[in-house]
Amino acid sequence: MSFPNIRPRRLRTSAAMRRMVSETRLHPAELVLPLFVKEGLAEPRPVSSLPGVVQHSRESLRKAVAEAAQAGVGGVMLFGIPERKDATGSGGTDPAGILNVAIRDVVGEVGDSLVVMSDLCLDEFTSHGHCGLLREDGVVDNDATLAAYARMAVAQAAAGVHVVGPSGMMDGQVGVVRQALDEAGYTDVTILAYAAKYASAFYGPFREAVESSLDGDRRSYQQDPANVRESLREVALDVAEGADMVMVKPALAYLDVISAVRASFDVPVAAYQVSGEYAMVEAAAANGWIDRERIMMETLHSIRRAGAQVILTYWAAEAARRLRAEY
Ligand code: PBG
Repeated sequence: MSFPNIRPRRLRTSAAMRRMVSETRLHPAELVLPLFVKEGLAEPRPVSSLPGVVQHSRESLRKAVAEAAQAGVGGVMLFGIPERKDATGSGGTDPAGILNVAIRDVVGEVGDSLVVMSDLCLDEFTSHGHCGLLREDGVVDNDATLAAYARMAVAQAAAGVHVVGPSGMMDGQVGVVRQALDEAGYTDVTILAYAAKYASAFYGPFREAVESSLDGDRRSYQQDPANVRESLREVALDVAEGADMVMVKPALAYLDVISAVRASFDVPVAAYQVSGEYAMVEAAAANGWIDRERIMMETLHSIRRAGAQVILTYWAAEAARRLRAEY
């Protein structure tokens, strides 16, 4: 051995040593819990492909958010499922629509004790399941959709949301949302742009959670999984249009994208550990093939290590409780 005295293993000799030299630390405040609320539900209803995740009633949603706050989670991201969907996704822009009433409920429950965010997209509300309005020929109409997003943003802001998350991947969506919010006087409402969002099969279980009827795919507006430079362009545009924070989605299969975005921009970078990422681990763990808790924490650390400062994960409350018990 040429360097007999140099032994990296010395830094791994005890739990205390490993803890001291750890390069990456997760904190509950960096975790965001996505939650689903369904109009007209009396009791929460399990989502079969997302074990442990439910469609909430308005009442159970309030409780879940209060529990998340108790666990120290940094924020929640709300998704609404209307009783009836239509071609224009009118439930999303209606101030009495489920997402908007749920925002009011939640902000009324927890106030400013955690950050309340809402998904700003039409796919949960449209009968065809696309993120925007369709032209006659079935293609998503970018600019007509922007007008709907502007109305949706103002409705969510009026309901008291702290952060809106435009996630439809329409060109110009961040600029239009910022302008609409500002014109309506909501200059403090923050934009978390789903800036680099891939056309991913990892969203599969989410489609069950929001009862999406999407037939086809989103490849004409979400990104090609083969690309990374395209993400830098998308993020640059969103930042120029006024995004306060940007997100990469999914997370685990796109750690290089997270890392590239982190290196190039000075806004907070979030990553969304999406439904399929969660479901794969839960399914393998249910079979006894992997150690669920260790994989949960390992994936979260890897996403943090890649450069995401904020992580959206269906494990947020559980992981937050574990982290608080550790430190
Ligand atoms: C769009 C949206 C989706 C997800 C979050 N926001 C679905 C999509 O873009 O197809 C997926 C999240 C997940 O899979 O956990 N409203």
